[in-house]
Amino acid sequence: MNVEGIEVAQHGGKLDGEPAPPAARKVFVKTYGCQMNVYDSQRMSDALAADGYTGTDRIEDADLVLLNTCHIREKAAEKVYSELGRIRDLKAERAGRGMETLVAVAGCVAQAEGAEIIRRQSAVDLVIGPQTYHRLPQALSRARRGEKVVETEYAIEDKFEQLPSPRRAAIVGRGVTAFLTVQEGCDKFCTFCVVPYTRGSEVSRPVQQIIGEAEKLAEAGVREVTLLGQNVNAWHGEGPDGKEWGLGRLLFRLARIPGIARLRYTTSHPRDMDDELIEAHRDLAELMPYLHLPVQAGSDRILKAMNRRHKAADYVRLVERIRSVRPDMAMSGDFIVGFPGETDADFEDTMELVRTVRYAQAYSFKYSPRPGTPGAAMNDHVAEAVKDDRLQRLQALLGDQLRAFNAGMAGKTMDLLIEKPGRRPGQRVGRSPWLQPVIVDETVGEIGDIVSVRITGTGNSLFAEPV
Ligand code: SAH
Ligand code: SF4
Ligand code: F3S
Repeated sequence: MNVEGIEVAQHGGKLDGEPAPPAARKVFVKTYGCQMNVYDSQRMSDALAADGYTGTDRIEDADLVLLNTCHIREKAAEKVYSELGRIRDLKAERAGRGMETLVAVAGCVAQAEGAEIIRRQSAVDLVIGPQTYHRLPQALSRARRGEKVVETEYAIEDKFEQLPSPRRAAIVGRGVTAFLTVQEGCDKFCTFCVVPYTRGSEVSRPVQQIIGEAEKLAEAGVREVTLLGQNVNAWHGEGPDGKEWGLGRLLFRLARIPGIARLRYTTSHPRDMDDELIEAHRDLAELMPYLHLPVQAGSDRILKAMNRRHKAADYVRLVERIRSVRPDMAMSGDFIVGFPGETDADFEDTMELVRTVRYAQAYSFKYSPRPGTPGAAMNDHVAEAVKDDRLQRLQALLGDQLRAFNAGMAGKTMDLLIEKPGRRPGQRVGRSPWLQPVIVDETVGEIGDIVSVRITGTGNSLFAEPV
């Protein structure tokens, strides 16, 4: 998953299209962490809209401030507390003007720390974990009555079933690409990772629910759907034919929905790439040739200590197999440097794996010990300066590969999904099959069109002309 510490401020426009009375309560949503949090923030915004809230991108106007948080590394979690400090001051300032402000913390920090958040920052009124978002309106009405609310139990009811489905107006405002969570949680327990503790065990959404949501997205003009899951390729469910389906089958079914032209999925675990999914990459034109397949490290010793349960060579073989059925497949990955016990030689193995695989895109991180994970309790933690040095070297290599990948696009003809207006007047930005933004003239097509273009420029951005 992309967890580049992205902060996505949810803009007011995201909730508009719904007529709201002038006195409607306003909510400001700020999202940290991965794509699943982005998706969750949208679903929470939908639930809040049904509860009478309109979105605002001005935090000082907000009657409700909702932070959707990430716990993956220490920095991500600490960011939330500094933000909460600023929000406390804002809340006091608004109170001075006779206005009430509710402060809610959702997401993985909420799940991991629960009531501790309110102890550390008393301005927080509500803490709500990812498994209880459907109870948000009810929890808020308790908070409005002055109660400090902590909702972090794993609910037995199906949250997706109970959340209001995405509204057409909201989907339209969000553009022609969309996320759709099909799987949540993780049973893999990599020794560095908090996700199994913050998102719970693996749950797959039922086939019909997913198809229904994808159809709604398509009807609202979405052309490209990215299926989300912490282990999205572990998704499974009973198909309408009564047979057990894996992600490959599901992708074939979703591709039949009128309007859906492109499919992607993220994030995958190498151990769950089954034959059916690889065949989908061979046979399904709608499935884009881009795969985010994190490996974390290239040393077998470190992979074992991380509990990844495969060897470096298994991963390289898997990539070769995928490329043998889909030669233009672009690979993306996640890496951790400085896991406890990682020697120079182990790190060189990671560099070697990167040189072998050649990535089009990658995220790399310094290992961050997380409370409660086995990694944090291991011996031989790597010195910060060593981690810095390794990260710098790895990122330089990955950066070279990324630039080489983009430069290799020169002169290529490809389909472009026109996505949004460009930064300059007269321009539009499209997305290549390999997830690259490509700038074109606005006369090339309308937003939502898929047009054939040829790449004419590959500097800092890619440029293209119609063919
Ligand atoms: N489910 C995905 C990863 C989700 S977390 C998978 O299995 O690949 C996203 C990325 O954050 C991970 O791939 C890993 O590279 C990084 N990450 C997770 N825990 C971390 C930690 N404690 N320190 C540094 N990076 C971490
Ligand atoms: Fe974390 Fe590993 Fe699960 Fe990915 S597979 S979410 S890295 S425990
Ligand atoms: Fe962060 Fe939770 Fe996603 S810890 S990466 S927001 S699953």
